[in-house]
Amino acid sequence: MTTDPQPSPPIDTSRAHPARVYDWLLGGKDNYPVDEAVGEKLPPEARDAARQNRQFMHRAASWLATQGIDQFLDVGTGIPTAPNLHQIVQNIVPSARVVYTDNDPIVLRHAEALLISRPEGATDYVQADVRDPEAIVRHARHILDFDRPIALSLIALMHFITDEQDAHGIVRALVRTLPSGSGLILSHAASDLFPELAEQVVAEYAKGGIRLAFRTRSEVGRFFDGLDLVPPGLVTATDWFASAPAPEREDSGIYAGVARIR
Ligand SMILES: C[S@@+](CC[C@H](N)C(=O)[O-])C[C@H]1O[C@@H](n2cnc3c(N)ncnc32)[C@H](O)[C@@H]1O
Repeated sequence: MTTDPQPSPPIDTSRAHPARVYDWLLGGKDNYPVDEAVGEKLPPEARDAARQNRQFMHRAASWLATQGIDQFLDVGTGIPTAPNLHQIVQNIVPSARVVYTDNDPIVLRHAEALLISRPEGATDYVQADVRDPEAIVRHARHILDFDRPIALSLIALMHFITDEQDAHGIVRALVRTLPSGSGLILSHAASDLFPELAEQVVAEYAKGGIRLAFRTRSEVGRFFDGLDLVPPGLVTATDWFASAPAPEREDSGIYAGVARIR
């Protein structure tokens, strides 16, 4: 199911893109030499972080689905990596409806693969920038019912948005559109857990032309202001597992949390 047909903007292979560097970190094939050049300079912990982040997404989305949420708005989706969010939640609730959004044209090119929903549910893809929350919500309304709870997932996205771009205001604007009982899933690279590694990662991305805004625990915590963080609260990605089996104990430079909207 699709809403408006979206023109496919050209893919720029002359400079690195976040979705493609992340794909490289996850061992994917949908990246170009410019992306690989950034990925190869990163410390090995960056690959661990990508894997841990993805596994957090599985656990958090599954948990919200088991809590009865059957609508998901995933912003900063990335290049499809199975299982994608709709596959995870439709395994629990076959009729779940999922809207995906990213601003990278390469994700749009893969959107058809993302659109294969179970017949009982629905999926859609919107090419949009998180800095335009109104446009995202306008499109998402074609598929999602904003009078019923929705889980907003912002996974490894907000560290691409700086304070000057009003990262916290953008999240507030998106959350404001969601009814009571909705959820927020958010993960974010930390500046204060392994500061030297974090600085190295930020510097290597910057050389590839990608600006990152890693944040401290309290800065990431501000994304959840006014919301009810569910246990265990804002922790590292490997420490968030709710009712799922505990993952293997390992260090992580990613903060992760899930909150309910009152
Ligand atoms: C690190 S990837 C995370 C992908 C996926 N959420 C996950 O955690 O597996 C970050 C994604 O955010 C997207 N992104 C970065 N800046 C964005 C923006 N301003 N608006 C929308 N998407 C953006 C990138 O294109 C990329 O696909």
